[in-house]
Amino acid sequence: MALLELTGLSKSFGGVRALREVSFSVDEGEIVGLIGPNGSGKTTLVNTVTGMERPDAGRVRLGGRDVTGLPAPSAARAGLARTFQSPRPFLHMTALENVAVGALLHAPRVADALRAAEEVLALVGLAGSSGLPASALPSERRKRLDLARALALRPRVLFLDEVMAGLNPSEQADGVALVRRLNALGIAIVYIEHVMKTVVTLCPRVVVLDHGERVAEGPPAEVLADPRVVEAYLGTAGA
Ligand SMILES: Nc1ncnc2c1ncn2[C@@H]1O[C@H](COP(=O)(O)OP(=O)(O)O)[C@@H](O)[C@H]1O
Ligand SMILES: [Mg+2]
Repeated sequence: MALLELTGLSKSFGGVRALREVSFSVDEGEIVGLIGPNGSGKTTLVNTVTGMERPDAGRVRLGGRDVTGLPAPSAARAGLARTFQSPRPFLHMTALENVAVGALLHAPRVADALRAAEEVLALVGLAGSSGLPASALPSERRKRLDLARALALRPRVLFLDEVMAGLNPSEQADGVALVRRLNALGIAIVYIEHVMKTVVTLCPRVVVLDHGERVAEGPPAEVLADPRVVEAYLGTAGA
């Protein structure tokens, strides 16, 4: 049985059909790539699965349980977490406090949440920044902080929404190693990314969205050679 199963997921904003009956699944321990040009619906998919938006139609199942349309805190409790394309930490709070807010989900006592937050910060390489206000962190470390906040929720499935954007090649290599480490801890990952090199490296299987529709699915080499995929990218040149 698939760990996460999306069936016929649809979402419109006024006249824009951001998701059109999208179906795919993620197995325990898998890293699945989710790619597609800008505006193809990738972030909307994350939003509808993790409770920031309600789908108009379709089903989301996690471990066999129907979690369709759960609000974000309940989705998090069920095991779904995500990072944001533009992280928005609580700027006046320290890195540790930012992560502890998430850790409170599983550790109601503040001391325990702080301890869990420290562990997660170490995991993402931010142990040395735990006492700094988030406002003092440069963007690469803000991304790590955002990831730490998601990890503090102890997800079963983690959605990474363009975490490599704006990183230099050496930071990207560190990012790839970190994603592998998280996956090795047993977290299934949906990896959304435009930096195709990292997609090919990390994902044995990718799903392609175009105009809200799943147009291809398979190993990256095959999918990237698929005429529908080539056309999707060429049709939005520069995306
Ligand atoms: N909250 C919203 N209100 C109106 N339109 C939206 C909203 N969120 C996304 N859209 C539209 O839905 C489409 C898909 O956007 P998005 O999911 O952000 O794509 P991607 O993440 O693949 O770049 C776009 O046309 C976008 O403008
Ligand atoms: Mg997006």
